[in-house]
Amino acid sequence: MAQHVRGVIARAKGEPVELTTIVVPDPGPGEAVVDIQACGVCHTDLHYREGGINDDFPFLLGHEAAGVVESVGEGVTEVAPGDYVILNWRAVCGQCRACRRGRPQYCFDTHNAKQKMTLLDGTELTPALGIGAFADKTLVAAGQCTKVDPAASPAAAGLLGCGVMAGIGAAINTGNVGRGDSVAVIGCGGVGDAAVAGARLAGARRIIAVDIDDRKLEKARSVGATHTVNSREADPVEAIRELTDGFGADVVIEAVGRPETYRQAFYARDLAGTVVLVGVPTPEMNVELPLLDVFGRGGALKSSWYGDCLPSRDFPMLIDLYLQGRLDLDAFVTETVGLDDVEEAFARMHGNDVLRSVVVL
Ligand SMILES: NC(=O)c1ccc[n+]([C@@H]2O[C@H](COP(=O)([O-])OP(=O)(O)OC[C@H]3O[C@@H](n4cnc5c(N)ncnc54)[C@H](O)[C@@H]3O)[C@@H](O)[C@H]2O)c1
Ligand SMILES: [Zn+2]
Ligand SMILES: [Zn+2]
Repeated sequence: MAQHVRGVIARAKGEPVELTTIVVPDPGPGEAVVDIQACGVCHTDLHYREGGINDDFPFLLGHEAAGVVESVGEGVTEVAPGDYVILNWRAVCGQCRACRRGRPQYCFDTHNAKQKMTLLDGTELTPALGIGAFADKTLVAAGQCTKVDPAASPAAAGLLGCGVMAGIGAAINTGNVGRGDSVAVIGCGGVGDAAVAGARLAGARRIIAVDIDDRKLEKARSVGATHTVNSREADPVEAIRELTDGFGADVVIEAVGRPETYRQAFYARDLAGTVVLVGVPTPEMNVELPLLDVFGRGGALKSSWYGDCLPSRDFPMLIDLYLQGRLDLDAFVTETVGLDDVEEAFARMHGNDVLRSVVVL
């Protein structure tokens, strides 16, 4: 039977979010209902509310979540009721040209639950990133559930579902950071700090954090930065070169999503180095670079979608490293809040002293 539970929705562009009753159907074929235990508050949720993603209001917000599978639909074999899972927004299809070539992390046809969750009057909800986890329970495609060790706290584990995975993956998957590399990370919010943590995990010997806010730089140090540069006070390209014997970093990760920081990343890397763009630009942004520099500096200019992660490969591995004390996911949880505190958490995001507020249920 369909269940009535609490959920946080955005009804219209720019309006404050609302805690209301939503209807969660029983899982159909290939679907699962998950009892949510924690869900991080991400900028993307705010973008949905501001109408910056699309106009499919009302949205059921929340997408960085961990919980326990309550029930599964017909044909579901990958998870079972009682499994502790992290939700992901890229359930791979197994059929598209990327999947068939053995590169499911790039799947071009990911999917979500087919049935819709609704309001009590039957209005269909659009779940943020196909998840919608600021709710007691949510309906997802079974492939969006990745089973991990239940010893990990839900508040920390859920963060792997989005921004923290994007940052760690930008370093270890897209940037392919290896032992002994020098790495610079431009922009040290939740994503950039996760890239710092990922670079440390991968064995980087020098990790240079760049931001315009000293509080962010202090935090970056606590998750693994060996050097910090405030780019309001010093030219970051010069500073990164100085810190790398005059050459530039092997891998530079841009976690802001702006043309000027992309340009800094481009020039702050060593010859044959790699630039990873993980920050998301807006449609009007352009970057102009001398083509001779693009050629002459060699290396690779890459973008990182969701850290090029494969949830089934990366989530259980990173949770194990967390439980061994080698990856401090707790450092990303600034505060835990209730389901009715999402609007306040959005306001605190602008204050710049929060990496993640996490709703705990
Ligand atoms: N690629 C993906 O899959 C993916 C996933 C999640 C988020 N993102 C993107 O990653 C980016 C960062 O996300 P976040 O949650 O960490 O955001 P955030 O706002 O918490 O962090 C941004 C940081 O950049 C700093 N900053 C701003 N302007 C700067 C400048 N000119 N130079 C240096 N630092 C500057 C800010 O002080 C802040 O610390 C966003 O663009 C977000 O959309 C990408
Ligand atoms: Zn596919
Ligand atoms: Zn997110």
